Amino acid sequence: MPVSHQNNKAVLTHPSGASAEVYLYGATLTSWKVANKERIFVSEKAILDGSKAIRGGIPLVFPVFGKGKAPHVTAALPQHGFARISLWKLLNSSDETNTVTAEFGLDHSLISEENRKLWPFDFSLVYTVKLAADTIETKLRVHNVGDKSFDFNTLLHTYFLIPDASSVKVIGLSGVDYVDKVLQTTVHQEGDIVIKGEVDSVYANVKSPDVQISYVAEQGGVQLHLKGLNDVVVWNPWVAKAAGMADFGNEEFHKMICVEAGQVAEFIALAAGGSWEGSQVLSESQRTVVEAG
Ligand code: BG6
Repeated sequence: MPVSHQNNKAVLTHPSGASAEVYLYGATLTSWKVANKERIFVSEKAILDGSKAIRGGIPLVFPVFGKGKAPHVTAALPQHGFARISLWKLLNSSDETNTVTAEFGLDHSLISEENRKLWPFDFSLVYTVKLAADTIETKLRVHNVGDKSFDFNTLLHTYFLIPDASSVKVIGLSGVDYVDKVLQTTVHQEGDIVIKGEVDSVYANVKSPDVQISYVAEQGGVQLHLKGLNDVVVWNPWVAKAAGMADFGNEEFHKMICVEAGQVAEFIALAAGGSWEGSQVLSESQRTVVEAG
C-alpha cells in the first residue's frame, strides 16, 4: 500500500524506501525520510492529540499569517489561521510510476463553527503531498467556491531537522529586503543567513525560487524550490522564546530551523470562482557550500 490510512494520519511509502507521514489534524506533514534519515523536525513536546497546532512538521498557515490586524476580517482569527487546527479529509491517494501521492481537503463545512462565523467565506483547500525517491512536493490549492471575494495569506511553515542551527547557512535570499520581527525594522539581506540568536524574518518577493539550507559543518543540506510562492520566513526561537513555549523543549532550537515558503507580505485577493496554487519541492542537497555569500 503506497498510502495507508492509519487512524489519524496518512503514511506514504515509496518503493525507494522514502516515506512521509501526514496527520489529518492540520494536514500537518510530520515526517519525511530519505535513506532512513529524518529531515523534518517535530518537538518532543509536540501535542499530537488534535487539541493544539502541532509544534513541528509542516503546519499550514491559512488564511492569515500571525495575528491579523483590525479592521481586516482576519483580525479575530487564531494566530496563523485555522487550517493547522482543523481536521482535514484524505481525499485521494495514488501510486504512479515514480511518485506516491496523497491529497487532503478542507472546506467551510469542516472548520469550527466559531471560525466559520469569523471568516464567512465558502472556500475549498486541496493539499497535495507528492513523494518521489529523493524529493517531496507539498502543494496547496485554494478555491473560492462562494460568491464573494476573499483575502488570504498562506505559508508552508516547514520545520527542518538540522544538525546544528549555529552552523547552518540559509542561501538564496541575499539581496532581498526583509522585515526583522525581532528588531521590528526592515533590513537588506547581504549574503547568506547565519543563525546567532533569535531569528524571525519575513523576506518578501524573493529573487530566486531556490533556497538552500546548507549544513556547512558537515556534508549536505536541503533545497527548497518554490513554485508560485514569493515570500520566505526564516524562524528560530532561540533561548528565551524556546523557554516560553510549553510544547517546545528548551534545547531543541539547536536542531531546527523553519524556512517557510508562502505568500505573507501582502494578502492575495481571490475573486469568487477563482483558484490559486503554490507549492514547494524539497530535495536533499549533497553539496556543502562553504564560501561566504
Ligand atoms: C513564524 C512567525 O512563522 O511562526 C513567528 O514568523 C512565530 O513570529 C512562529 O513565532 C511560530 O508561531 P506559532 O503560532 O506556531 O507559535
